[in-house]
Amino acid sequence: MRFDTIITGGTLVTAMGRTRGDLGIRGERIAAIGRNLASADTNALIIDAKGRYVIPAGVDVHVHLDLPFMGSNSSDDYNSGHRAAARGGITTTIDFAIPYGKESMSQAVDNWFKKAEGIACVDYGFHGTITDHRRHLKELPSMVERGIPTAKEFMIYAAMGWQSDDGAIIAGLEECKRAGAMLMIHAESSSALDLLMARADDPKLKKKYGAKLHAMTRPPYIEAEAIQRAITWCEVTGGKLFIVHMSVGAGADLIKEAQDRGVNVLAETCAQYLVLDDSVFARKDGHLYASQPQIKTKADQKRLWKALRDNTLTNVSTDTCTFTTKQKAIWKGDYSKIPMGLPGLETLLPIVYTHGVLKRRISLEQFVQKCCSDPAKIMGMYPRKGSLDVGTDADLAIIHPKKTIKVDWRKMETNADWSPYQGWDLAGFAETTLCRGKVIVDGYKFVGQNGHGAYVPRKNPGVAGR
Ligand code: URP
Ligand code: ZN
Ligand code: ZN
Repeated sequence: MRFDTIITGGTLVTAMGRTRGDLGIRGERIAAIGRNLASADTNALIIDAKGRYVIPAGVDVHVHLDLPFMGSNSSDDYNSGHRAAARGGITTTIDFAIPYGKESMSQAVDNWFKKAEGIACVDYGFHGTITDHRRHLKELPSMVERGIPTAKEFMIYAAMGWQSDDGAIIAGLEECKRAGAMLMIHAESSSALDLLMARADDPKLKKKYGAKLHAMTRPPYIEAEAIQRAITWCEVTGGKLFIVHMSVGAGADLIKEAQDRGVNVLAETCAQYLVLDDSVFARKDGHLYASQPQIKTKADQKRLWKALRDNTLTNVSTDTCTFTTKQKAIWKGDYSKIPMGLPGLETLLPIVYTHGVLKRRISLEQFVQKCCSDPAKIMGMYPRKGSLDVGTDADLAIIHPKKTIKVDWRKMETNADWSPYQGWDLAGFAETTLCRGKVIVDGYKFVGQNGHGAYVPRKNPGVAGR
């Protein structure tokens, strides 16, 4: 058999287990898995993976690239964000196409295609965003036809005109069910949050507490109450619900109870919520860490790791929404003006590998399940993405089991001029990344091409597990 590339001697890891073997790649696909594949083919590019793990490349189903948000534009676009993804061993991202003003969901998707085309370095898909349920829900069948069977509603962001109330969520779940789609929810309780923020709207308090006020105005119940309410609407409608960027431990209890009684609710967390805690807001640069929802406590972290282990949480994403120190500086001491969000694509796999696998919180197989295969399954692109099967896309990351790299934003592909993990020693960076058969990271360096990334249509979301 003739191959273009053969990866030899590595330990192939999936959610199901690990085995020694070679992978033969022809064109964009995995063509064979076996032993001694290189012995009969001298023309192929041979990648020696001895002593390395070969995993299906990561799938980050929650990113915001080139997003106009809170008076700024997020600083990682489809070029820097995707170079960062590649270096972090991720070859598929899913972004939220958000309608502005009177735009339709379909116009928003057209806009997001323009952001990606010609510069994307890894593959990509989009989620729809429902900011006006009366108009946007009618578009769900055509969105599903375009390969976009997922749409997000926000329970906050009234000032931006993005907010969905309970009626919009109920209608969203019903219409998604009819169209074969899954509703994603940003769960924070807006009127309780508005009250706490109004009480904190005092120059003396802002001066006294600085960025800490961000966490103080968002106690855990702000997120937990909203998750509970979304679960109620999911239960009464029988729709499919996905709670995005869940950061609160109490949310895991609510989701587990609901799943145990048969409610169709899934949830993700993000890497930052697993390893950072609210002490960051007391730092001099604490405002850099502000995101919505915000980083919670050590107890929440612990509960989230448990929820990953017992499959209450299906996957780990990044919610990448990069703002530079200059962009974040517009806060000028007022926490409510901070452009919210963190960079993350380059460090997702290293964070979960180092703090999950090496610290024995999850197994190597669970790491692959939560960062590679289950996100692809839940979002309807498995086995094309997230698997190591013959006939599927040759999207692979090769990682050294122990070698660490010190995080330094100066040496990274992201446009961020800071990192939430600056100075941390992390293992699990991709030594080699392949996206549809092309080597895009070699020796930890990005060697890919602008425009290599292609759109991945999706269908039948909402199915996780082994
Ligand atoms: O602070 C964040 N997470 N910004 C991105 C927008 C969102 O709500 O996901
Ligand atoms: Zn959100
Ligand atoms: Zn987000």
